Amino acid sequence: MRNPRAFLRPLAVGAPAPVSEVPFRPSRMIHFFDPSNEKMAAKVPDIAAKVDIILGNLEDAVKTEKKEAARLGLVEIAKKTDFGDTQLWVRVNSLDSPWVLDDLTTLVTEIGDKLDVIMVPKVEGAQDIHYVDRLLAQLEAKGNVKKPLLVHAILETALGVTNVEEIAGASPRMQGISLGPADLAASRRMKTTRVGGGHPGYLVRQDPTGDDLTEGRTTYQQDLWHYTIARMVDACAANDILPFYGPFGDIKDVVACEDQFRNAYLLGCVGAWSLHPVQIDIAKKVFSPSKEDVEHAKTVVEAMGDGSGAVMINGKMEDDASCKQCLVMLDLARELAE
Ligand code: GLV
Ligand code: MG
Repeated sequence: MRNPRAFLRPLAVGAPAPVSEVPFRPSRMIHFFDPSNEKMAAKVPDIAAKVDIILGNLEDAVKTEKKEAARLGLVEIAKKTDFGDTQLWVRVNSLDSPWVLDDLTTLVTEIGDKLDVIMVPKVEGAQDIHYVDRLLAQLEAKGNVKKPLLVHAILETALGVTNVEEIAGASPRMQGISLGPADLAASRRMKTTRVGGGHPGYLVRQDPTGDDLTEGRTTYQQDLWHYTIARMVDACAANDILPFYGPFGDIKDVVACEDQFRNAYLLGCVGAWSLHPVQIDIAKKVFSPSKEDVEHAKTVVEAMGDGSGAVMINGKMEDDASCKQCLVMLDLARELAE
Protein backbone atom coordinates (compact mmCIF):
# COMPACT_ATOMS: atom_id res chain seq x y z
CA MET A 1 0.00 0.00 0.00
CA ARG A 2 1.92 3.06 -1.21
CA ASN A 3 -0.38 5.70 0.19
CA PRO A 4 -1.22 4.62 3.70
CA ARG A 5 -2.89 7.95 4.51
CA ALA A 6 -5.51 7.20 1.86
CA PHE A 7 -6.34 4.00 3.69
CA LEU A 8 -6.71 5.44 7.14
CA ARG A 9 -10.05 7.10 7.67
CA PRO A 10 -10.15 7.66 11.40
CA LEU A 11 -13.60 8.16 12.76
CA ALA A 12 -12.82 10.69 15.43
CA VAL A 13 -9.30 11.78 16.04
CA GLY A 14 -7.63 12.56 12.72
CA ALA A 15 -4.58 10.91 11.20
CA PRO A 16 -1.52 10.88 13.44
CA ALA A 17 1.45 13.00 12.41
CA PRO A 18 4.34 11.00 10.96
CA VAL A 19 6.88 10.05 13.61
CA SER A 20 9.38 12.54 12.15
CA GLU A 21 6.94 15.34 13.03
CA VAL A 22 6.17 14.00 16.49
CA PRO A 23 8.29 15.69 19.20
CA PHE A 24 11.32 13.59 20.18
CA ARG A 25 10.83 11.28 23.14
CA PRO A 26 13.73 9.23 24.51
CA SER A 27 13.17 5.58 23.57
CA ARG A 28 16.36 3.79 24.59
CA MET A 29 14.67 0.91 26.37
CA ILE A 30 11.22 -0.66 26.29
CA HIS A 31 10.95 -2.17 29.76
CA PHE A 32 8.63 -5.18 29.93
CA PHE A 33 6.48 -6.11 32.93
CA ASP A 34 3.73 -8.67 33.44
CA PRO A 35 0.61 -6.89 34.75
CA SER A 36 -0.76 -10.21 36.07
CA ASN A 37 2.21 -10.53 38.42
CA GLU A 38 1.30 -8.56 41.54
CA LYS A 39 4.91 -8.26 42.76
CA MET A 40 6.01 -6.81 39.41
CA ALA A 41 2.95 -4.58 39.14
CA ALA A 42 3.67 -3.06 42.56
CA LYS A 43 7.07 -1.92 41.30
CA VAL A 44 5.71 -0.16 38.20
CA PRO A 45 5.73 3.42 39.60
CA ASP A 46 9.39 3.07 40.70
CA ILE A 47 10.49 1.43 37.46
CA ALA A 48 8.55 3.92 35.33
CA ALA A 49 10.59 6.73 36.88
CA LYS A 50 13.81 5.10 35.61
CA VAL A 51 12.92 4.14 32.04
CA ASP A 52 12.01 5.81 28.77
CA ILE A 53 9.22 3.34 27.94
CA ILE A 54 7.36 0.93 30.21
CA LEU A 55 5.35 -1.82 28.54
CA GLY A 56 2.62 -4.03 29.97
CA ASN A 57 3.07 -7.41 28.32
CA LEU A 58 -0.04 -9.45 27.58
CA GLU A 59 1.45 -11.88 25.03
CA ASP A 60 4.13 -14.59 25.30
CA ALA A 61 5.51 -15.17 28.81
CA VAL A 62 2.00 -14.62 30.25
CA LYS A 63 0.28 -17.94 30.90
CA THR A 64 -3.02 -18.66 29.14
CA GLU A 65 -5.01 -18.63 32.36
CA LYS A 66 -3.51 -15.24 33.26
CA LYS A 67 -4.37 -13.43 30.01
CA GLU A 68 -7.44 -11.76 31.41
CA ALA A 69 -5.79 -10.88 34.72
CA ALA A 70 -2.91 -9.27 32.79
CA ARG A 71 -5.28 -7.17 30.67
CA LEU A 72 -7.32 -6.01 33.66
CA GLY A 73 -4.17 -5.53 35.74
CA LEU A 74 -2.80 -3.15 33.13
CA VAL A 75 -6.04 -1.15 33.13
CA GLU A 76 -5.86 -0.82 36.90
CA ILE A 77 -2.17 0.14 36.97
CA ALA A 78 -2.58 2.66 34.16
CA LYS A 79 -5.54 4.33 35.86
CA LYS A 80 -3.76 4.83 39.16
CA THR A 81 -0.23 5.67 37.99
CA ASP A 82 1.17 8.99 36.86
CA PHE A 83 3.76 8.05 34.23
CA GLY A 84 5.15 11.57 33.87
CA ASP A 85 7.29 11.77 30.73
CA THR A 86 7.64 7.98 30.51
CA GLN A 87 5.77 6.39 27.62
CA LEU A 88 3.23 3.66 28.42
CA TRP A 89 3.03 0.88 25.84
CA VAL A 90 1.23 -2.44 25.72
CA ARG A 91 2.11 -5.63 23.85
CA VAL A 92 -1.23 -7.16 22.91
CA ASN A 93 -1.71 -10.79 21.94
CA SER A 94 -1.13 -11.78 18.33
CA LEU A 95 -3.80 -11.21 15.70
CA ASP A 96 -4.48 -14.93 15.34
CA SER A 97 -5.13 -15.40 19.07
CA PRO A 98 -8.51 -15.50 20.84
CA TRP A 99 -7.48 -12.62 23.15
CA VAL A 100 -6.47 -9.73 20.91
CA LEU A 101 -9.93 -8.38 20.20
CA ASP A 102 -10.67 -8.09 23.92
CA ASP A 103 -7.18 -6.66 24.53
CA LEU A 104 -7.71 -3.83 22.07
CA THR A 105 -11.35 -3.19 22.94
CA THR A 106 -10.74 -3.01 26.67
CA LEU A 107 -7.48 -1.10 26.60
CA VAL A 108 -8.39 1.55 24.05
CA THR A 109 -11.77 2.32 25.55
CA GLU A 110 -10.58 2.16 29.20
CA ILE A 111 -7.08 3.67 29.10
CA GLY A 112 -6.68 4.93 25.51
CA ASP A 113 -5.64 8.37 26.73
CA LYS A 114 -2.87 6.94 28.90
CA LEU A 115 -1.40 4.64 26.27
CA ASP A 116 1.13 5.86 23.72
CA VAL A 117 1.87 2.84 21.57
CA ILE A 118 0.32 -0.58 20.88
CA MET A 119 2.97 -3.21 20.16
CA VAL A 120 1.61 -5.87 17.80
CA PRO A 121 3.46 -9.21 17.72
CA LYS A 122 4.05 -11.51 14.75
CA VAL A 123 3.15 -8.95 12.10
CA GLU A 124 3.49 -10.58 8.68
CA GLY A 125 2.39 -7.94 6.21
CA ALA A 126 0.69 -4.58 5.68
CA GLN A 127 -2.73 -6.23 6.04
CA ASP A 128 -2.07 -6.88 9.74
CA ILE A 129 -1.34 -3.20 10.34
CA HIS A 130 -4.37 -2.14 8.28
CA TYR A 131 -6.59 -4.33 10.44
CA VAL A 132 -5.27 -2.84 13.67
CA ASP A 133 -5.42 0.63 12.14
CA ARG A 134 -9.14 0.39 11.35
CA LEU A 135 -10.00 -1.19 14.64
CA LEU A 136 -8.11 1.48 16.58
CA ALA A 137 -9.92 4.24 14.70
CA GLN A 138 -13.26 2.71 15.66
CA LEU A 139 -12.29 2.16 19.28
CA GLU A 140 -10.77 5.63 19.63
CA ALA A 141 -14.07 7.08 18.44
CA LYS A 142 -16.02 4.86 20.82
CA GLY A 143 -13.78 5.70 23.79
CA ASN A 144 -13.42 9.41 22.94
CA VAL A 145 -9.65 9.03 22.90
CA LYS A 146 -7.99 12.40 22.34
CA LYS A 147 -4.84 11.47 20.43
CA PRO A 148 -4.37 8.67 17.92
CA LEU A 149 -2.56 5.63 19.24
CA LEU A 150 0.62 4.63 17.44
CA VAL A 151 1.50 1.09 16.37
CA HIS A 152 4.78 -0.79 16.80
CA ALA A 153 5.27 -4.10 14.95
CA ILE A 154 7.44 -6.99 16.08
CA LEU A 155 9.39 -8.54 13.24
CA GLU A 156 9.49 -12.17 14.25
CA THR A 157 8.44 -14.42 11.40
CA ALA A 158 10.16 -15.20 8.13
CA LEU A 159 7.16 -13.78 6.28
CA GLY A 160 7.31 -10.59 8.32
CA VAL A 161 10.98 -10.11 7.42
CA THR A 162 10.15 -10.73 3.75
CA ASN A 163 7.50 -7.98 3.95
CA VAL A 164 9.28 -5.57 6.29
CA GLU A 165 9.24 -2.63 3.85
CA GLU A 166 5.48 -2.75 3.37
CA ILE A 167 4.96 -3.17 7.12
CA ALA A 168 7.06 -0.10 7.87
CA GLY A 169 5.01 2.01 5.45
CA ALA A 170 1.59 0.48 6.12
CA SER A 171 0.08 3.33 8.14
CA PRO A 172 0.86 6.79 9.51
CA ARG A 173 0.29 5.18 12.89
CA MET A 174 3.53 3.18 12.51
CA GLN A 175 5.92 4.27 15.27
CA GLY A 176 8.58 1.62 14.83
CA ILE A 177 9.59 -2.02 14.55
CA SER A 178 11.41 -4.38 16.94
CA LEU A 179 13.37 -7.45 15.98
CA GLY A 180 11.96 -10.48 17.85
CA PRO A 181 14.86 -12.95 17.61
CA ALA A 182 13.26 -15.80 19.58
CA ASP A 183 10.12 -16.28 17.50
CA LEU A 184 12.04 -15.44 14.35
CA ALA A 185 14.56 -18.21 15.06
CA ALA A 186 11.69 -20.72 15.40
CA SER A 187 9.92 -19.44 12.30
CA ARG A 188 13.12 -19.74 10.26
CA ARG A 189 13.90 -23.16 11.73
CA MET A 190 17.22 -21.90 12.98
CA LYS A 191 18.94 -24.43 15.24
CA THR A 192 19.30 -22.18 18.26
CA THR A 193 17.49 -22.49 21.60
CA ARG A 194 17.92 -18.96 23.00
CA VAL A 195 16.11 -15.66 23.39
CA GLY A 196 18.31 -13.36 21.32
CA GLY A 197 22.04 -12.79 21.37
CA GLY A 198 24.76 -14.75 19.60
CA HIS A 199 25.71 -18.40 19.50
CA PRO A 200 29.20 -19.85 20.00
CA GLY A 201 28.69 -22.18 17.05
CA TYR A 202 28.07 -19.34 14.60
CA LEU A 203 31.61 -18.28 13.83
CA VAL A 204 34.30 -17.79 11.25
CA ARG A 205 37.71 -19.41 11.56
CA GLN A 206 41.05 -18.19 10.28
CA ASP A 207 42.57 -20.19 7.42
CA PRO A 208 45.21 -22.75 8.47
CA THR A 209 48.80 -21.56 8.21
CA GLY A 210 50.18 -25.04 7.48
CA ASP A 211 49.08 -28.66 7.22
CA ASP A 212 47.94 -28.87 10.83
CA LEU A 213 44.25 -27.94 10.70
CA THR A 214 43.91 -27.69 14.47
CA GLU A 215 46.75 -25.25 15.28
CA GLY A 216 46.60 -21.48 15.74
CA ARG A 217 43.27 -20.88 14.01
CA THR A 218 41.54 -18.06 15.81
CA THR A 219 37.75 -18.10 15.68
CA TYR A 220 35.43 -15.09 15.79
CA GLN A 221 31.80 -15.35 16.80
CA GLN A 222 29.45 -13.72 14.29
CA ASP A 223 26.27 -11.70 14.84
CA LEU A 224 23.31 -13.95 14.03
CA TRP A 225 21.03 -10.93 13.67
CA HIS A 226 23.07 -8.65 11.46
CA TYR A 227 21.10 -9.23 8.27
CA THR A 228 17.69 -8.77 9.86
CA ILE A 229 18.66 -5.72 11.90
CA ALA A 230 20.18 -4.06 8.84
CA ARG A 231 17.08 -4.81 6.76
CA MET A 232 14.76 -3.57 9.46
CA VAL A 233 16.81 -0.38 9.94
CA ASP A 234 16.64 0.38 6.21
CA ALA A 235 12.87 -0.20 6.13
CA CYS A 236 12.39 2.03 9.18
CA ALA A 237 14.70 4.82 8.00
CA ALA A 238 13.06 4.83 4.56
CA ASN A 239 9.66 5.30 6.23
CA ASP A 240 10.73 7.65 9.01
CA ILE A 241 9.94 5.27 11.86
CA LEU A 242 12.14 3.87 14.64
CA PRO A 243 13.99 0.51 14.72
CA PHE A 244 14.65 -1.41 17.97
CA TYR A 245 16.49 -4.58 18.95
CA GLY A 246 14.20 -6.89 20.99
CA PRO A 247 14.91 -9.19 23.93
CA PHE A 248 18.16 -10.56 25.34
CA GLY A 249 17.15 -13.52 27.49
CA ASP A 250 20.38 -14.40 29.33
CA ILE A 251 19.89 -11.86 32.11
CA LYS A 252 23.15 -12.83 33.88
CA ASP A 253 25.28 -12.26 30.80
CA VAL A 254 25.47 -8.49 30.98
CA VAL A 255 28.58 -8.44 28.79
CA ALA A 256 26.95 -10.17 25.81
CA CYS A 257 23.77 -8.15 26.35
CA GLU A 258 25.77 -4.94 26.07
CA ASP A 259 27.50 -6.26 22.94
CA GLN A 260 24.18 -7.15 21.30
CA PHE A 261 22.66 -3.79 22.18
CA ARG A 262 25.77 -1.97 20.92
CA ASN A 263 25.74 -3.80 17.59
CA ALA A 264 22.11 -2.74 17.17
CA TYR A 265 22.93 0.87 18.17
CA LEU A 266 25.81 1.07 15.72
CA LEU A 267 23.60 -0.29 12.93
CA GLY A 268 20.97 2.40 13.59
CA CYS A 269 18.57 1.11 16.26
CA VAL A 270 17.33 3.67 18.80
CA GLY A 271 16.74 1.24 21.66
CA ALA A 272 16.19 -2.33 22.85
CA TRP A 273 13.87 -4.21 25.17
CA SER A 274 14.80 -4.60 28.81
CA LEU A 275 13.47 -7.72 30.51
CA HIS A 276 15.09 -7.12 33.89
CA PRO A 277 16.12 -3.97 35.78
CA VAL A 278 19.79 -4.80 35.16
CA GLN A 279 19.25 -4.27 31.42
CA ILE A 280 17.84 -0.77 31.91
CA ASP A 281 21.21 0.81 32.63
CA ILE A 282 22.88 -1.18 29.86
CA ALA A 283 20.39 0.23 27.35
CA LYS A 284 20.69 3.75 28.75
CA LYS A 285 24.46 3.64 28.39
CA VAL A 286 24.59 1.98 24.98
CA PHE A 287 21.86 4.00 23.26
CA SER A 288 23.18 7.38 24.43
CA PRO A 289 26.14 8.78 22.47
CA SER A 290 29.37 8.57 24.48
CA LYS A 291 31.22 11.72 25.61
CA GLU A 292 34.08 10.81 23.26
CA ASP A 293 31.76 10.42 20.26
CA VAL A 294 30.08 13.74 21.02
CA GLU A 295 33.45 15.53 21.40
CA HIS A 296 34.69 14.08 18.13
CA ALA A 297 31.46 14.97 16.34
CA LYS A 298 31.69 18.57 17.58
CA THR A 299 35.28 18.84 16.35
CA VAL A 300 34.33 17.60 12.88
CA VAL A 301 31.23 19.80 12.57
CA GLU A 302 33.18 22.89 13.66
CA ALA A 303 36.05 22.13 11.30
CA MET A 304 33.66 21.54 8.38
CA GLY A 305 32.14 25.04 8.58
CA ASP A 306 29.27 25.09 6.07
CA GLY A 307 29.42 21.27 5.87
CA SER A 308 30.98 21.05 2.41
CA GLY A 309 34.48 20.16 1.26
CA ALA A 310 37.00 18.08 3.19
CA VAL A 311 39.31 18.51 6.20
CA MET A 312 42.02 16.35 7.77
CA ILE A 313 41.62 15.64 11.51
CA ASN A 314 44.22 13.42 13.21
CA GLY A 315 45.23 11.98 9.87
CA LYS A 316 41.68 11.12 8.84
CA MET A 317 39.74 12.66 5.98
CA GLU A 318 36.36 14.09 6.95
CA ASP A 319 33.87 15.38 4.39
CA ASP A 320 30.19 16.19 3.87
CA ALA A 321 29.15 12.58 4.57
CA SER A 322 31.11 12.13 7.80
CA CYS A 323 29.87 15.58 8.87
CA LYS A 324 26.28 14.33 8.40
CA GLN A 325 27.02 11.30 10.59
CA CYS A 326 28.41 13.63 13.23
CA LEU A 327 25.23 15.72 13.06
CA VAL A 328 23.14 12.57 13.67
CA MET A 329 25.23 11.95 16.79
CA LEU A 330 24.97 15.55 18.00
CA ASP A 331 21.21 15.70 17.36
CA LEU A 332 20.66 12.56 19.43
CA ALA A 333 22.89 13.82 22.26
CA ARG A 334 21.07 17.17 22.31
CA GLU A 335 17.61 15.58 22.21
CA LEU A 336 18.46 13.21 25.04
CA ALA A 337 19.85 16.07 27.12
CA GLU A 338 16.67 18.22 26.74
C1 GLV B 1 10.10 -11.56 20.99
O1 GLV B 1 8.90 -11.52 21.10
C2 GLV B 1 10.81 -12.61 20.38
O2 GLV B 1 10.14 -13.56 19.92
O3 GLV B 1 12.03 -12.55 20.33
MG1 MG C 1 7.98 -13.21 20.20
